[in-house]
Amino acid sequence: MIINTELEYKGNLFPTKIIDFKKDINSLYFTTENDVILQVTVLRDSVIRFRYTTTGNFEKDFSYAITKYASSGYNKLLIEEEKDKYIITTAKLICHIMKANLEVSLFDALDGKLINQEEAGFHWEENYQFGGNIVKMSKVAQNGESYYGLGDKPVHINLKGKRYENWVTDSYAYGKDTDPIYKAIPFYTALCNKKAYGIFFDNSFRTYFDFAQERRNVTSFWADGGEMNYYFIYGPELSDVVENYTDLTGKPHQLPPLWALGFHQCKWSYYPESKVKEITSTFRKLKMPCDAIYLDIDYMEGFRCFTWNKEYFPDPKRMVKELLDDGFKTVAIIDPGIKIDKEYSVFKEALEKDYFCKRADGPYMKGKVWPGECYFPDFTNPEVRDWWSGLYKELIEDIGVKGVWNDMNEPAVMEVPNKTFPDDVRHDYDGNPCSHRKAHNVYGMQMARATYQGLKKYIYPKRPFVITRAAYSGTQRYTSTWTGDNVATWEHLWIANIQTQRLAMSGYSFAGSDIGGFAEQPQGELFTRWIQLGSFHPFFRVHSSGDHGDQEPWAFDEDVTAIVRKFIEIRYQLLPYLYTAFWHHVNEGTPILKSLVLFDQDDVHTHYRTDEFIYGNQILVCPIIEPNAKGRRMYIPKGKWYNFWTDEIVKGGKEMWVDADIDSMPIFVREGAIIPKYPIQQYVDETKIDAVTLEIYYKEGKEDSTLYDDAHDGYDYTKGRYSFRTFKLTGRPNELIIQQHKEGKHNTDYDNFELHFHGLPFTISKIQIDNENIPLKNLKTNGVDSMFIEKNFTQLHLIGKKE
Ligand code: GLC
Repeated sequence: MIINTELEYKGNLFPTKIIDFKKDINSLYFTTENDVILQVTVLRDSVIRFRYTTTGNFEKDFSYAITKYASSGYNKLLIEEEKDKYIITTAKLICHIMKANLEVSLFDALDGKLINQEEAGFHWEENYQFGGNIVKMSKVAQNGESYYGLGDKPVHINLKGKRYENWVTDSYAYGKDTDPIYKAIPFYTALCNKKAYGIFFDNSFRTYFDFAQERRNVTSFWADGGEMNYYFIYGPELSDVVENYTDLTGKPHQLPPLWALGFHQCKWSYYPESKVKEITSTFRKLKMPCDAIYLDIDYMEGFRCFTWNKEYFPDPKRMVKELLDDGFKTVAIIDPGIKIDKEYSVFKEALEKDYFCKRADGPYMKGKVWPGECYFPDFTNPEVRDWWSGLYKELIEDIGVKGVWNDMNEPAVMEVPNKTFPDDVRHDYDGNPCSHRKAHNVYGMQMARATYQGLKKYIYPKRPFVITRAAYSGTQRYTSTWTGDNVATWEHLWIANIQTQRLAMSGYSFAGSDIGGFAEQPQGELFTRWIQLGSFHPFFRVHSSGDHGDQEPWAFDEDVTAIVRKFIEIRYQLLPYLYTAFWHHVNEGTPILKSLVLFDQDDVHTHYRTDEFIYGNQILVCPIIEPNAKGRRMYIPKGKWYNFWTDEIVKGGKEMWVDADIDSMPIFVREGAIIPKYPIQQYVDETKIDAVTLEIYYKEGKEDSTLYDDAHDGYDYTKGRYSFRTFKLTGRPNELIIQQHKEGKHNTDYDNFELHFHGLPFTISKIQIDNENIPLKNLKTNGVDSMFIEKNFTQLHLIGKKE
């Protein structure tokens, strides 16, 4: 905190009484006697923005986080004035603004109960050193309130009782509780009395959140500069809060190409070409499915971006094509630092065009990264982003690289104490010039955005695939992400599980960790357990640094290889399930991973669970995160679940022991679910798929499942050429009915479904498809009951004799 010893106004300043009120469509302005203006904007019935200025004037309204595609519109907006307050009412929320001091309280419009109340409310401190204010907000932390979110923090899933900071930081070998690390996502959700709300503090300066740490009943957030500018998002369902936040900051602009959901193999670094080929051909030889192979920094000439080391890679275009012919998509790394080298065209061009960041007094921002001394493009300048996206033409269009990996974009600078640019560096910030204090947290995001724009253009008509390390809220629109330089320890397996769940709850589902650990060398057992978890993460990549030995699936022993293969195969079988979850994510903002609290917030047992999560909507997963385990205790959420391996049915709402020797892991399927599976392939679309298997888990009652499919790449799906099927299952003691509803114009490769029935409580005596009787001999009964059915059936009806 700053101490204003030089100022007339020392310490915290507060708004005084309201002297003016004005309404402009959906924005309301409350002005106080001491020139504070609170702008309240109703975006939706459940989303209200609160923005404050202390100077009687607002700065230009600009945000990198908020998407222009965010939904808007509300059903009701009523303003009333009472003696001591203004009351704003929407269909979901009631907001009180006190005339005496601008204090805000929020109530549920349906039952009138308090949801969130200010403690000191908005206050600020003048910042003598840099100008502007340190802006602060403090709210009442209610008894029993829990907090979640905040991006990639490697801490317990429930944030209560701790203070965190958002400042994007290169964090090699970070640990549990290290803060801050790579991402700045100033969004949290709170849950109390079975109701959830969220707060997104859209301020790119260094921000801080205190969840009842400093004082037991106060939650506060503040920033080193900029505006107090936050969005209050009401649920009452946690999942609605997350979906609304994702809507506001953006869903991914398109589905990933399906291959990007396959397995990725990476290392720092595979070179020369013969080494890359040795790796890829071993995958094929060992029948280990894999879709992507990565080139880390050594493919470049002296770490100069957009160049190739011709000694290691004499003919990259030929190599990339040969890899592709074998099913491997090549992903190449690109960092932000541009080597200072007058002979290097990228450097020369950026210098000529004045695209590099400069210090406050004029010199270029010079810093050391892999290539030695570098200058850094100002990605917050739209002209620089355009130029940067153009640089990908050769790599993508000509050479045929299919994905780009942006790293070190915090931006990381070596051999300096703060690991990044000094505060005085100047940035364009899309025409709102500012210092690095404001631009730091968005720098990496804007680099990844420029990369995305390049990929999108040059890979067209295919879909782009980008991966970034640094991120600010909204980065999920452009790119996938990973959790940075972790370590091969059991603790890091716990961290990887938490981080991906937390990111999903923070609008960022397309995420994964460096499987096996980036630093150090895992034992085969740890690698195996990590692959098991990773096969249920949206981004599924093994990566490690070169110094610690090999980390390919065959680098341990034969048992490990076999188990790893088994789990990668499960990943490939479940691809249609994951792709469907992605469709829901891209269209509805639904997180692909759901921590148990997100799945069932009414069950208080879920509020502090960390390890178990729901994959998609209907699969419960719990990794084994300790050595020598033959199983573990875990919490099974309410409802009935089928053990994925044994079909044994368990009743949830309790903690229990689940067997899971090294070749297994606790996986459960929700009763009533219909889980689609592809046959195992060595890479996506290796062969034509003749039939998709539907694993049908009987339930007495009703359950809906969905199945999305399209051409697996390209944009035809946006023109209606997709296939979206809803299966409505109804089970009764003596029958099972599945109704199918179809949407979209895509004609899938396959013509049939192979149905597998799990847990039927009766012996099938009659089968009807679309009201016609089908001979019973169509049913195979060895092991699990199964049958083929034409994919476009409308209704399947099984009638049974009770045993
Ligand atoms: C950084 C990245 C890591 C990469 C390495 C070399 O440490 O986080 O993934 O392999 O740089 O490029």
